[in-house]
Amino acid sequence: MKKIWLLIFAGAVLSASSEGEKLFKTYCWGCHHQTAEAFGPSFQTIANHRDKGRIIAQIVDPEGTYKMLGYRRNSMPAFDDLNASQLEALADYILSFKDKK
Ligand code: HEC
Repeated sequence: MKKIWLLIFAGAVLSASSEGEKLFKTYCWGCHHQTAEAFGPSFQTIANHRDKGRIIAQIVDPEGTYKMLGYRRNSMPAFDDLNASQLEALADYILSFKDKK
């Protein structure tokens, strides 16, 4: 069941996102899920409210951005060892969950 879902999913976002998906599974999955709220907000919620700059800022410096995003405290670690193309790939992956209206 899980596999089938993953396949459908992979087909839907295949283009720019396989690197982002890999990074997501490595670093973010514990706290964020694609469409369901977990410890942190879902990527879908994030995609519907933020642009790429905000997303990347939060990944590299959550301590510096959480207030601006409306959170009362920060529980997300900084991922400041990711390079620019990894950050792009992650942000594109997150934004691929934006609702299509
Ligand atoms: C230890 C748990 C944890 C991990 C791991 C984690 N996050 Fe978060 N994330 C959170 C929490 C909690 C918040 C809510 C704000 C805060 O605590 O700073 C958040 C907030 C965010 C936001 C901003 C949400 C908004 O409202 O715009 C983004 C973007 C984000 N995370 C992306 C990521 C990405 C990408 C990764 C993997 C590289 C990741 N997070 C890993 C817990 C986590």
